Amino acid sequence: MKYLRKIGVFLLIGLMIFGMTACGSKKGNTFTGEAKGKNGTIKVEVTIDNKEIKKIKVVENHESEFTKDTFKKVIDSIIEANSADVDTVSGATLTSSAIIAAVKDAVKKSGIELTPKKSNGQASAKAENTSTDVVIIGAGGAGLTAAIQAKEDGAKVILIEKNAVVGGNTNFATGGLNAAGTKYQKEKGIKDSVDLFYKDTMKGGKNKNNPDLVKLLAEKSAETVEWLTERGADLSDVGRMGGASVNRTHRPTGGAAVGAHLVKVLDKKAKEVGVEIRTETKAIELLAEGNKVNGVKVQDAKGNKYEINAKAVILATGGFGANQDMVVSYRSELKGFGTTNGPGATGDAVKLVEKLNVELVDMKEIQSHPTVVPGKSKLITEAVRGNGAILVNRDGKRFIDELQTRDVVSKAELEQKGKTAYLIFDQNVRESLSAIEKYHKLGLLTEAKTVKELADKIKVNADELEKTVKSYNGFVQAKKDTEFQRSNMKTELNKAPYYAVEVGPAVHHTMGGLKINTDAKVITKDGKVVEGLFAAGEVTGGVHGANRLGGNAVADITTFGRIAGKNAAGLAKK
Ligand code: FUM
Repeated sequence: MKYLRKIGVFLLIGLMIFGMTACGSKKGNTFTGEAKGKNGTIKVEVTIDNKEIKKIKVVENHESEFTKDTFKKVIDSIIEANSADVDTVSGATLTSSAIIAAVKDAVKKSGIELTPKKSNGQASAKAENTSTDVVIIGAGGAGLTAAIQAKEDGAKVILIEKNAVVGGNTNFATGGLNAAGTKYQKEKGIKDSVDLFYKDTMKGGKNKNNPDLVKLLAEKSAETVEWLTERGADLSDVGRMGGASVNRTHRPTGGAAVGAHLVKVLDKKAKEVGVEIRTETKAIELLAEGNKVNGVKVQDAKGNKYEINAKAVILATGGFGANQDMVVSYRSELKGFGTTNGPGATGDAVKLVEKLNVELVDMKEIQSHPTVVPGKSKLITEAVRGNGAILVNRDGKRFIDELQTRDVVSKAELEQKGKTAYLIFDQNVRESLSAIEKYHKLGLLTEAKTVKELADKIKVNADELEKTVKSYNGFVQAKKDTEFQRSNMKTELNKAPYYAVEVGPAVHHTMGGLKINTDAKVITKDGKVVEGLFAAGEVTGGVHGANRLGGNAVADITTFGRIAGKNAAGLAKK
């Protein structure tokens, strides 16, 4: 009897332990799993019935907005396969691996053995030769803009994207879009002109820019803001970026990141007007007869190859900032540098145009952005400096006009001890720019109640940092920086809490690329137009010369995207 009671007690304890362990991860037939994503924990609830995954619900997620489609894609394929042994999503590898790992964690906790369903092995329905008016390669900001414009101008458009998600590098663009003479500037009493925009851009690019392209960019910029606004974008906030003489960087209300917003608006618009978007479709060869391009050979996610014949082709494949080998082949001193670029920025177009004798310009001009978190490749937007932040070194001292162009600020940082610096700002700056909230959420910011406490936390000389902030505030009051001649000082740094983040340079933009003319037509080494071939955005060279100004990339992709789309549609109609 005593013996039986003992067994009962053990059983009860066992059941209690099992209950306690399962408690945090099981609700009925729903199990919780988690894994670390790019920006933090991803937590999912997986419902399993009769050994089959019925539902996957994401209950915690800190990933960027543009990964929404990645979540859907991975979850759909796990449910379809009844297994978490599915492929990651190109262009969002870290996020998709984490979703898969979180589901695996939940399934493991369930103790249930799933029976994977066999794939039906069918090739993609679209893997057959087809034809269209305009085919666009690359669905980043330039490609999406060109596609909408071409479709609205009456062309049949196929937009292909090698990644599973659209947006490319535009997904990461934060600071804004430069434009001169917009209604938003006028409303705010900002005096700007096409000529001033032109001059700032040429000066920033060390006059290496193609003046005709810069002139067009400046002339069409306000129209581009209108065009985007008419299609649903909010670009009503206007701030300043390095190298600009006045406030002309347009971004959403409250200073939210411009890129994710634009991608959402453009993607929606492209679908609405009927652009056919084929993701996970990589261009492998441009089809051409002599000097005339008439389509593209592509490969889909299953490895099927087929041709899309077209009257016009637009290259919008972006730069090569994520291709270390290519970067180093042009600039060996950048070996080991991080990059702010998404994984798709691999310079694919250079290979695609090889046989067409296309001229490449300014390939050695590769820009480092000075405020990137070391080791994390997280870009802290230049708009933080534009809205008032300063840069200090490990002695707690400023060392540069923080709104100098990126090449100058990056070089100055590399001359400081440790080759990095600290971006310092206060609550005034934080409240002026909602893009900062993301950095806070990601735990990138050190926060303190006083400047002294902040200095102690980041281990810089506290007396010096206090002196630096005091004298900077004096410059703001006097509207004159007698130390570094910074002309734009938006606010005193005097509202607690105070914030710091360590920053250094990382590869950001490749100014070089395919030579184009003002019609966005691609030009050969002997100065001829390649018939039927257009290009827009970072794939091209010439717009930015030796150094791009912050806010000019988004202006470039949208303005030249529109021009390429319009001219490609025009050619298709002939
Ligand atoms: O700092 C930034 O927000 C970057 C903007 C740009 O490269 O144009």
